[in-house]
Amino acid sequence: MIKGMYWFVFLLCSSTQFSAMRNPTLSTILTLLFLVFLLLLTFASPSPRSSLTRHSYLSVEDDSDILISPKNSFTCGFHEVGSNAFTFSIWFSNLNSKTIVWTVNRDNPVNGHGSRVTMRKDGNVVLTDYDGTLIWTTSTNSTQAHTQLLDTGNLVVKDPDGTILWQSFDYPTDTLLPNQVFNRNSKLVSAAANGSLSSGPYISYFDSNNVLILMYDTPEFASVYWPDPENKAWENGRATYNGSKYAVLDDMGQFVSSDNWTFKASDLGPGIRRRMTLDYDGNLRLYSLDESTKTWSISWVALSSVCLAHSLCGRNGICVYSPTPQCTCPPGFEVNDPSDWSKGCKRKYNIACHQSHQVQFFALPDTDFWGYDFNYNSSLSFRACRKICKMDCSCEAFGYKKGTGDCFPKIELHNGKSYPGAGNNIFLKIPRSVNASKISPRLQGHDPVCNNPEVSIGKDIRGRSTEKKKWANFYGFISAFFVIEVLFVTFGWLFIFRREKLSAPMEEGYRAMSTQFRRFTYKELKRATRNFKEELGRGGSGAVYKGVLDDERVAAVKKLEDVIQGEEEFHSELSFIGRIYHMNLVRMWGFCSEHSHRLLVSEFVENGSLDKVLFHGDGFLRWSERFKIAVGVAKGLAYLHHECLEWVIHCDVKPENILLGQNFEPKIADFGLAKLLNRGGSGQNLSRIQGTRGYIAPEWASSLPITGKVDVYSYGVVLLELVKGVRVSDWIIGRGEEVEMVLRRSLELLKVNLESGQESWICDFVDSRLDGQFNSKEALMMVEIAVCCLEDERSKRPSMESVVHMLLLSDDELNSHAASFQ
Ligand SMILES: *[C@@H]1O[C@H](CO)[C@@H](O)[C@H](O)[C@H]1NC(C)=O
Ligand SMILES: *[C@@H]1O[C@H](CO)[C@@H](O)[C@H](O)[C@H]1NC(C)=O
Ligand SMILES: *[C@@H]1O[C@H](CO)[C@@H](O)[C@H](O)[C@H]1NC(C)=O
Ligand SMILES: *[C@@H]1O[C@H](CO)[C@@H](O)[C@H](O)[C@H]1NC(C)=O
Ligand SMILES: *[C@@H]1O[C@H](CO)[C@@H](O)[C@H](O)[C@H]1NC(C)=O
Ligand SMILES: *[C@@H]1O[C@H](CO)[C@@H](O)[C@H](O)[C@H]1NC(C)=O
Repeated sequence: MIKGMYWFVFLLCSSTQFSAMRNPTLSTILTLLFLVFLLLLTFASPSPRSSLTRHSYLSVEDDSDILISPKNSFTCGFHEVGSNAFTFSIWFSNLNSKTIVWTVNRDNPVNGHGSRVTMRKDGNVVLTDYDGTLIWTTSTNSTQAHTQLLDTGNLVVKDPDGTILWQSFDYPTDTLLPNQVFNRNSKLVSAAANGSLSSGPYISYFDSNNVLILMYDTPEFASVYWPDPENKAWENGRATYNGSKYAVLDDMGQFVSSDNWTFKASDLGPGIRRRMTLDYDGNLRLYSLDESTKTWSISWVALSSVCLAHSLCGRNGICVYSPTPQCTCPPGFEVNDPSDWSKGCKRKYNIACHQSHQVQFFALPDTDFWGYDFNYNSSLSFRACRKICKMDCSCEAFGYKKGTGDCFPKIELHNGKSYPGAGNNIFLKIPRSVNASKISPRLQGHDPVCNNPEVSIGKDIRGRSTEKKKWANFYGFISAFFVIEVLFVTFGWLFIFRREKLSAPMEEGYRAMSTQFRRFTYKELKRATRNFKEELGRGGSGAVYKGVLDDERVAAVKKLEDVIQGEEEFHSELSFIGRIYHMNLVRMWGFCSEHSHRLLVSEFVENGSLDKVLFHGDGFLRWSERFKIAVGVAKGLAYLHHECLEWVIHCDVKPENILLGQNFEPKIADFGLAKLLNRGGSGQNLSRIQGTRGYIAPEWASSLPITGKVDVYSYGVVLLELVKGVRVSDWIIGRGEEVEMVLRRSLELLKVNLESGQESWICDFVDSRLDGQFNSKEALMMVEIAVCCLEDERSKRPSMESVVHMLLLSDDELNSHAASFQ
């Protein structure tokens, strides 16, 4: 613009000069040229800029007020997202439809008049709304700097010497471009809907295990759905030890990540424009541009099937293929809002809990509702599994795997999906009064009661039409088969199993279970604990107070100290803890995260911690109770290590963290804290030396990565203490002895005794307070397991799962298995 004005003035001067020379022809020509120039000036766009200098700005009113990268690969400027609503974005140049790769104010668009992006004289780049409100700033501070859009799609603020003061590559939205580094601070957030720019519920980042994950993340629910949550990290080919948290897609189309995960674009090679986008349906896709048609095609996807993303169909909803992915409600449910499936389905018939109403179960083969298991048992018969769900008011359905007898009673139904070969069957609880044969055929999303339940999701997966047809036939066949099977199975169950009455209502348990894990305000907790009056105990992670919540539940409120995370990360770690249900784990009810306050709210466990009862004489534990505690703690840890949604290492198993509930049922406290706290912290990795002297495994002192086997070791110490009734640190007899040495020496002795094949020594080892009242087989087994758990070489220690198996073996099986266990 300004350049043009100079020319204008120059020509004006020249033409007057020439007129003064009285050359009429030249003068006429010049005047004509002049008019043409004026026309050009009015219609032509200003010469494209690739950089913004200090004191200059881009204005929202002028479409052509944009930055263009030197080779015109990318454009940066205002983008209209709604009537009179604009974002400041970067998009690919010269495409038929605009593909936005970065946006600064996706949830906060600015007005179509008076909004500007200005580079101020101090080098700060700011986005201001019509009234001057500051929407965004780079917070740069250099009077030399200028802003430039590079051909990589990176918008940078840099000094003349090339130092980059700020870059858009550090703040991705839902798209990662080639050579854009994804690191510990990066996060991709999906868009809320197709064609929308605003933030949606799916995110991708490096979690605290250093694994790049995809996660559904809303305040109500959160769950990781990729890599496959059924597997451990290493089973998914991910490494957890590399804390560098670094990933990048290169020019060839190869993606490499520090968690040892890598993939190649299907069109691997240079010279292709690509982008990796976390789409609104929760799938991460790599797109390549076809330069001839200017359209995108998919060259890699994270989820082979759309239904694998979590919560696509909301609570109780099921994602099915028929043959494209669709949402449907299970039988006996109806959709909440046909225009928005994320609101899920609701029950048509309520199951009254307190009246002794009768229930029946409805089979949904090849279906799964992932997560929200409140219990887990394996090798159960179908009847036993069904009984667990039947007896528990809060159980909505249960999953059952026939071969293994895995039984998953569910407290809520989320992440539903159904596809042939899912390998899991769901049995829905419905009132007996409902005629199941009437609802059975409505499984495939053709339910006439649900108004138009087939709302498509993820339709924009292009470039697979031939594949689609193939699948259509396949699924057509499968669905017919499926319906027949459903009918068959349903009638089968109805016929075989007599309906049983629901046992006495479990009101209390129900209320505790059904109340969501939620956020509390600090004020609320202050009131509940009467200003943190009654302290229950104090540990390394903080003090615990007793409180009564507004709904009259008695709670334990823990004030955490040394929490490393910001509010958001704290929340996401916690929402995960909140989803852990197991009777041997203290139930977490919620948390508070305000300013510097970080508190955890959990159930109050009435009988205090194990150390008080076992060592301090606040009561006395009989043998059967000790054995029960050993089994319960093992089950709780096995759940954390093997069955949980994510893999959790406790890192601080000790009697203080084992609470005793009714009938001395143990409940493990403080699990999941290892990730939240920064003790002696080396930052992102599990910080070195957590745990408590006497209970910590030898590898804490080495540089080996920390695994679940550290808990196995600590559990071994607790087992010995349960048998002996004396804290391991009190076994010291000599002066200046270290607890580790004493433990070593005792272990040697126990090994010799065990190998001797005699049993008399066990009487001397067992707590004398028991007065000989104990089961020597169980005692021997506990010692034997403890010795294994305390192996220096951690690969020799058993898993918690096999510890549970050992403990539960009946007495006669014991003898034959004891040898093989070693
Ligand atoms: C910017 O830098 C100048 C000189 O280095 C300093 O005086 C000023 O306080 C800085 N401003 C901000 C906002 O950091
Ligand atoms: C961790 O990942 C980074 C980035 O991919 C890599 O350079 C480094 O070698 C890895 N470290 C280990 C120990 O594998
Ligand atoms: C990393 O990946 C390579 C090949 O992709 C594999 O050979 C190696 O075992 C993996 N390392 C770990 C620790 O998973
Ligand atoms: C299943 O497990 C729970 C807790 O782990 C236990 O209380 C229950 O007795 C088990 N049920 C059966 C039938 O083993
Ligand atoms: C259930 O419905 C079917 C079909 O409508 C009917 O034949 C059957 O008698 C009904 N059963 C009961 C127990 O009402
Ligand atoms: C998503 O948007 C694209 C382009 O606007 C459109 O072609 C496609 O049909 C949309 N998909 C759905 C599911 O609405």
